[in-house]
Amino acid sequence: MAEPLLAVGVLISGSGSNLQALIDRMAEGSVPARIALVISNQAEAYGLERARLAGIPTRVIHHRAFPDRQHFEQAMIAALNAAGVELVCLAGFMRVLTPCFIRAFQGRLLNIHPALLPAFPGLHVQQRAIDSGARFSGATVHFVTEEVDAGPIVAQAAVPILDHDTAQTLAARILTQEHRLYPMAVSLFAQKRLQISGQRVHILNGREEPEAALIVPPPEP
Ligand code: GAR
Repeated sequence: MAEPLLAVGVLISGSGSNLQALIDRMAEGSVPARIALVISNQAEAYGLERARLAGIPTRVIHHRAFPDRQHFEQAMIAALNAAGVELVCLAGFMRVLTPCFIRAFQGRLLNIHPALLPAFPGLHVQQRAIDSGARFSGATVHFVTEEVDAGPIVAQAAVPILDHDTAQTLAARILTQEHRLYPMAVSLFAQKRLQISGQRVHILNGREEPEAALIVPPPEP
């Protein structure tokens, strides 16, 4: 008998385009998982509509409806556990989580961040990457630990920073790669191929390309 699909909970605050990428890749069978619950802390998040269209249960758990972070997070933990969630994916969830939530899902909590960590944790990362003069930025999927944007890295995608980039054009280029990266990372988790060893994540039976390089500007002929 086939193993049951991994039950994933997705936390969002906004558009939910990463959620959509997960929904689409799961629907076509390339990610062996299913989304059991989508939680938003914003009632008007468009991602909720995406989930409903896909027939996925949703909950709005607004942080302001609770006296403090602890109660807000306890409500999310209860909803995720009631839905049988095994892996939690933060996908544009714009609240910092406390150890209370992080410990409840230790080793099974992923985040996607629109920069090449450990460079540019935090907010306004596209503008900060442009201002730094770096030739690259990108996206990172990582396990969440108690230090913000600092957990073991699962996968990264690099994109060039172009001369006339604005924070918006760079964000759009990064987002396109996020949509490839997050489903890939969830698939590896679902296949039990991720092994955390300190800060490093080993990928069991992973392919490596020692000669791979993205050079910016591209070498001239
Ligand atoms: C994505 O770029 C994601 O990396 C970022 O928010 C965007 C959400 O887009 N997350 C963070 O900045 C977390 N600190 P989406 O709602 O369309 O998936």
